[in-house]
Amino acid sequence: MNTLEQLNYRDTDIIGSRIKQELPKIRLVWARGREPLDFMKAMIYLILGKKGSGKSALIELLSLYYPKIIDLFGSRDDEGLCYCRKNSPIDDILLIHGDNVDLDCSWDTTSVSKLTYDKILDYEVVIPSYSFFSGNAGRFVGINKLMELFWERRKWKKPIFVGVREASSFIYSRVKQEGVNMKLAKADFIFWQREMRHFGYSLGIDTIRWTSIDKEMRDLADWLVIKKVGSQGIPEDIDFLYRYIDPMSMAGLPPNQFMLLTENASIAWGKSEYPEFHKEEGVDLLEELGIEITYGEDIEESSVQRIGDEEHEKIIRLYNEGNGMTKISKLIHRSSARVHNHIHQHNKGVIEDGYCSKCRRIRSDLADVELYIPS
Ligand SMILES: Nc1ncnc2c1ncn2[C@@H]1O[C@H](COP(=O)(O)OP(=O)(O)O)[C@@H](O)[C@H]1O
Ligand SMILES: [Mg+2]
Repeated sequence: MNTLEQLNYRDTDIIGSRIKQELPKIRLVWARGREPLDFMKAMIYLILGKKGSGKSALIELLSLYYPKIIDLFGSRDDEGLCYCRKNSPIDDILLIHGDNVDLDCSWDTTSVSKLTYDKILDYEVVIPSYSFFSGNAGRFVGINKLMELFWERRKWKKPIFVGVREASSFIYSRVKQEGVNMKLAKADFIFWQREMRHFGYSLGIDTIRWTSIDKEMRDLADWLVIKKVGSQGIPEDIDFLYRYIDPMSMAGLPPNQFMLLTENASIAWGKSEYPEFHKEEGVDLLEELGIEITYGEDIEESSVQRIGDEEHEKIIRLYNEGNGMTKISKLIHRSSARVHNHIHQHNKGVIEDGYCSKCRRIRSDLADVELYIPS
């Protein structure tokens, strides 16, 4: 016989304003096995389904059961800002922006370079939204800096929820920005997921291009959620699920329903309530929330030939902290002649224009500081 389970937020220990609120719920009817969902365990939720099948809404629902949420990678339409809406159960939000971007809004904001792991812990939701970065390169650098901070989580009791709203774009951005091949980017993403779990993060991954999500990645999920898949159907290695649901129903599931396959091969039908604050298509959240964005000059990236703005700033900072040019050259793997040039270039800017343009682009506090160079 089937057992029915209703997830209740009171089972979890949620901090902040959410404890007083009625949160949207999930109902599961188990068809095989039974595995109660444990929000104290670091989980990977992988959600497959067509556009409009209710994947993002489900990610948002799940996220609410975690004390902290990082909406890591979102869509172009800044969907993750839905947490800022009036009807969202959360009011403790930090918006993260690129170093050359200014935000004018009523929420707390910080540039990604000023962000620390401790600061992340001060908020219920952290959102580095798409429009808060300028250009693909700027966004890529910003998201990577944020991800670097994740590893500082050496001690944990309750997982932090991390949302990746379009897994294939997330992987593809690495292919584009770092020039690695797709196979390596996928392997790295799998490795990252595994590691993240050890460091106490639950991942909610939403993907429309489920055919490009390999079996290996599906196998890693603790919860594989299958929503409306349309005529493409479900991948071959899990087509045994058709014993529990007929292909026609699977192809046309309404957005509040899904099929669940757990890591231990339990199977359930699921129904989820709608998180009312979810962004409907066609809504402009930046306008609704009154968030104004000012973009500065694009940051110059480093390459083999060129020392970009951030690397330049690092040289200046290291030098200002008292490190010699030879030592800096060893630290950053650049010739000491180039280090020497950058230090002189910096001072030239400060003396002639009042600031170094490279440092200024990334809002360094050393932008107008003349360095002491012994003659
Ligand atoms: N649990 C739900 N109950 C009712 N309607 C829903 C539910 N989840 C989603 N929807 C509807 O489906 C639309 C698309 O959902 P969304 O999560 O944005 O889809 P996806 O991320 O798969 O493209 C929503 O805007 C909403 O109108
Ligand atoms: Mg979506």
